[in-house]
Amino acid sequence: MTDPELWERIEAIRREMPRTDLVRLPHPSIELYAKMESTNPGGSAKDRAALWILREAIRRGEITRRTTVVESSSGNFALSLSWLCARLGIQLIAVLDPNVNGAAERILRKTWDRVEMVDGPVGAGGFLLSRLARVAELLQEVGGAYWPDQYSNVDGLRGHYELAGAELVAGLSHLDYLFVGIGTGATIAGLSRRATEAFGEVKVVAVDVAGSVILGGPPCRRYIPGIGSSIRPPLIAQAVITDSVTVSEQEEVAGCHELLREHGVLAGGSTGCVYAAIKRYFACWSGPTPVVAFLCADGGEAYLDTVYDAAWVSAHHLDPAGGGSAAGVKAD
Ligand SMILES: Cc1ncc(COP(=O)(O)O)c(C=O)c1O
Repeated sequence: MTDPELWERIEAIRREMPRTDLVRLPHPSIELYAKMESTNPGGSAKDRAALWILREAIRRGEITRRTTVVESSSGNFALSLSWLCARLGIQLIAVLDPNVNGAAERILRKTWDRVEMVDGPVGAGGFLLSRLARVAELLQEVGGAYWPDQYSNVDGLRGHYELAGAELVAGLSHLDYLFVGIGTGATIAGLSRRATEAFGEVKVVAVDVAGSVILGGPPCRRYIPGIGSSIRPPLIAQAVITDSVTVSEQEEVAGCHELLREHGVLAGGSTGCVYAAIKRYFACWSGPTPVVAFLCADGGEAYLDTVYDAAWVSAHHLDPAGGGSAAGVKAD
């Protein structure tokens, strides 16, 4: 049964959620727009999914005021759950891995008594399988636990569809290409559905990082959180994807730095990936000017000690000048 007070709280949050800006970025051959999801209250696009998942669970009576939310996250989804759970007055245990940004971990530890950190990756399965195994243990151990399961919960997809997706299509009269980074696949599933409904011919380009298995590549150790996954998440099957680009972590770092120097946008790693993909995709473009949109999924402040730090980049062999593997553009 729905807890009326919790429902009223989550509905108030939904009504107060600010819209994010759609910013035009100058480019020689394309009409380029960035949707600034970094300005969400929790700092990333994940706010849209987290809000909708909690809202629907409250509506179904699966979350009450005695619930503890337990979730695996590379950082951003936990930050989104964190401010939402605090506002709702319910508990959160986030399960993180050592790739998490220091800033995200500090915020979570300041907010919650208990934050879990897994030790290491499970074989080629990466950190995600370790985190999910710990979540499974916590669900047994903690009474009244609720697992949002961002990897397969369709309410997350719906959040992107209803919120960022609706705003994106309302802000444009036409769209030829939409570039979206993939992790759980919730963002691309929600946005691609909304965009294809509004602009039937739009091409949706999925952007992944080398070492992630989502698009079928071989797994390997990755260092930058956000984009990519060591499993193929079920939500990806619900996305309308016309093309895909895989970007190495070296290119990801270069993309972040170029976005900053060329447009003054300090963005997180996944946005650097997407920006690198867009530049590569349209490098030899000579046709009519296409309208292209992408998400700035999170801001770069939390990456100042990693992606934007020369010593960290060099220690992880991610210096663009160091010659990373050139990842190719492939059509699905
Ligand atoms: C910064 C950032 N970009 C992109 C993604 C991928 O989004 P999704 O999980 O909806 O596929 C994530 C996911 O955590 C993220 O944190």
